[in-house]
Amino acid sequence: MRVLSGIQPTGRFHWGNYFGAIRQYIDLQDAGEAYYFVANLHALTTVRDPELLRQLTLDAAIDLVALGLDPNRAVLFRQSDVPEVSELCWLLMTGTPMGLLERCHAYKDKKAKGLAADAGLFTYPVLMAADILSYDADVVPVGEDQVQHIEVCRDIAGSFNHHFGETFVLPKAKVLESAARVPGTDGEKMSKSYNNTLELFEPPATLRKKIMRITTDSRPMEQPKEPQTDHLFQLYSLLATDPEREDMAALYRRGGFGYGEVKKALADVAERFFAEPRARRAELEAHPERVSEILADGASRARKKAGQVLARAKKACGTGA
Ligand code: ADP
Ligand code: TRP
Repeated sequence: MRVLSGIQPTGRFHWGNYFGAIRQYIDLQDAGEAYYFVANLHALTTVRDPELLRQLTLDAAIDLVALGLDPNRAVLFRQSDVPEVSELCWLLMTGTPMGLLERCHAYKDKKAKGLAADAGLFTYPVLMAADILSYDADVVPVGEDQVQHIEVCRDIAGSFNHHFGETFVLPKAKVLESAARVPGTDGEKMSKSYNNTLELFEPPATLRKKIMRITTDSRPMEQPKEPQTDHLFQLYSLLATDPEREDMAALYRRGGFGYGEVKKALADVAERFFAEPRARRAELEAHPERVSEILADGASRARKKAGQVLARAKKACGTGA
């Protein structure tokens, strides 16, 4: 089985990204051959500051390794380091009906809001299809919002195969557990667009301050409360051990506690949970040459595979021998 996924470097990663996506990618690195990349070409449709894009791309790669992605097991690379993908994207684009892309939600939503869309945003799903098909990926772990794009990829690959003969492997989406929908500091879904995130690697003191400012309701301290529906408890649950979680749930049900206590406990378990990744990240930051090496090695392994697939596609459609 070959697993592949990409993650856009459009901001620093937060708890939602980790529990909703990154942790599950990392778990899959043992399930077969795994390819993970930082999708900086896709990010270019929103991040238009070159220094920022460069930095966010590098930060994303460092974060993934610090969080446990093992570059010896999985192939980790920058999307833009594999130019074969962009060439394949063109080959695919020539057979992609406009109507298929007009139905894709990233473009449709922007248009519905009356915002100007560019060709990059419109053809975004074709680049994503090229990303997937370039590595003969069977399984693509993604969030619910990306499932439509995998369907588009299957359509594009299927019609290429139909027209030019069997060339591409048709991938399957593996939808990530939606149970891991992480609430933000205001209780809504954590998202950088809502400005309610707890970032994975912000300095511990800043993180603690943000946790202490998480919104809570004004029910009296003595009143017993249902833990499962409380966002503070939900956050605590992600990071605590089983016995800690049970004790906290019992405290909620008993009542007679203050949210300040829970916030302090949350800050403590967060500090413990991320201590090791934080140390690994500091170590990598101190050795940028190690990160460059990982990305160069990943790019060369990825290019090797993508080159074979591109040659196959070029031969099939008549642009290559
Ligand atoms: P954001 O909403 O901050 O812009 P992205 O859309 O870049 O986050 O998310 C990247 C990945 O992280 C997606 O696969 C998405 O499913 C996952 N993710 C983001 N926020 C959450 C969340 N609050 N809970 C669970 N998963 C999330
Ligand atoms: N579009 C994806 C997202 O925003 C990122 C991505 C780019 C991707 N290429 C991919 C995901 C290929 C899976 C496979 O989350």
